[in-house]
Amino acid sequence: MDTQVAIVGAGPAGLVLSHLLDRQGIDCVVLENRSRAYVESRIRAGVLEYSTVELLCALGLGDRLMRERMVHHGLELLFEGTAHRIPLSELTGGKTITIYGQHELVKDLIKARLDKGGDILFDISDVAVYGLDERRPTVRFGHRGAAHELRADFIAGCDGFHGVCRQSIPLGVLRSLERVYPFSWLGILAQAPPSSAELVYARHDRGFALHSMRNAEVTRLYLQVAPDESLERWPDQRIWGELRTRLARDADWELTTGPVLEKGITPMRSFVAEPMQYKRLFLAGDAAHIVPATGAKGLNLAVADVTALAAGLTAWYSTGRTDLLDSYTTTCLQRVWRVQHFSWWMTSMLHKLSDNAFDEQLQLSQLRYVTSSATAATSLAENYVGFPYAFD
Ligand code: FAD
Ligand code: PHB
Repeated sequence: MDTQVAIVGAGPAGLVLSHLLDRQGIDCVVLENRSRAYVESRIRAGVLEYSTVELLCALGLGDRLMRERMVHHGLELLFEGTAHRIPLSELTGGKTITIYGQHELVKDLIKARLDKGGDILFDISDVAVYGLDERRPTVRFGHRGAAHELRADFIAGCDGFHGVCRQSIPLGVLRSLERVYPFSWLGILAQAPPSSAELVYARHDRGFALHSMRNAEVTRLYLQVAPDESLERWPDQRIWGELRTRLARDADWELTTGPVLEKGITPMRSFVAEPMQYKRLFLAGDAAHIVPATGAKGLNLAVADVTALAAGLTAWYSTGRTDLLDSYTTTCLQRVWRVQHFSWWMTSMLHKLSDNAFDEQLQLSQLRYVTSSATAATSLAENYVGFPYAFD
């Protein structure tokens, strides 16, 4: 098999890249080790930045998104029992955020790609990357009981944090920068109408809680738990009780409950591998970096990476120019580090970090500042709705 760009991973990074390349007439094949049903039902992110939505619409991928999404103009920070609204749109010249499940977006991206005759191979096994030092590297994999080789001009490693692409880069090339937080998130998806119109990020003495949603009937809720927590210790009743306590507020407010549709534990981690390229292999999205979910940025960062990669590949194929590919890491890392800082800052401000009263007072001071100063609130809002990215 032969193509121009071999894309490993059919998550948001790999799929959006396949659409960006197709638009420029660049041939690609997407290789995914899970089944289509699995990737289409994996519950993950829910917040799309303003520019991510603009990009998807410009690519003709926004029809169902625009029909079914929820548009939010603000969010709430809840601390000491009182909710404070950050008016995101008012502070960012009218920008909004979009609530739309990542798995719904993945469904849209896969369907649109297959409808156009694009190649996505699901259920592949034993993926391995070879010949990175050669002019045309190769991806070897198993599919339907047979061994295959896909030769390409470039490989896009869009295979997430646990994928094989980053690990195929020779030792000594990458530098990994990492922070692991002493807590995880326990997340549930519940068949229950949202209890608030907007997202609520809560700092509580018992730990962080987040109220999010997917649509008018489905809520997404998270709790800060111990890093090594096991789900068996969290029957539904305990989860609802803890959410009710941590999300409680002065006013007349009640947490809507309902059947729990999905439950999971996610570690909180900040990670960056640099450079994001080795010869003809380019890493994008979670394969290159992870942000703690408190900033709602991972999916958006994955999309921003592949717009930069597509621009570089387009320049290479159309004119032979290499400058944009050469500066891929520098271009991406500028945004990556801004997002790393914002995600770390939100995480540090809202989670229970220790029993140290000094830390607690610093958090409360920061929360009071960001909810009372228009300047501080604008900085949060600008980062949360996201910075624009260039694409053509
Ligand atoms: P992935 O989505 O991980 O996709 C990688 C793909 O590669 C997968 O389909 C995987 O099966 C496949 N793969 C792996 N190994 C191989 C292999 N060897 N061969 C072939 N295929 C392989 N981000 C936000 O922006 N907003 C949020 O609100 C948000 N909330 C989150 C909540 C949770 C609970 C979690 C876990 C994450 C959240 N994120 C959020 C982060 C976001 O989901 C990720 O950053 C995003 O999925 C990254 O996309 P990706 O395409 O880089 O990687
Ligand atoms: C979600 O809806 O899943 C979500 C929302 C905001 C976050 C993280 C996750 O910061």
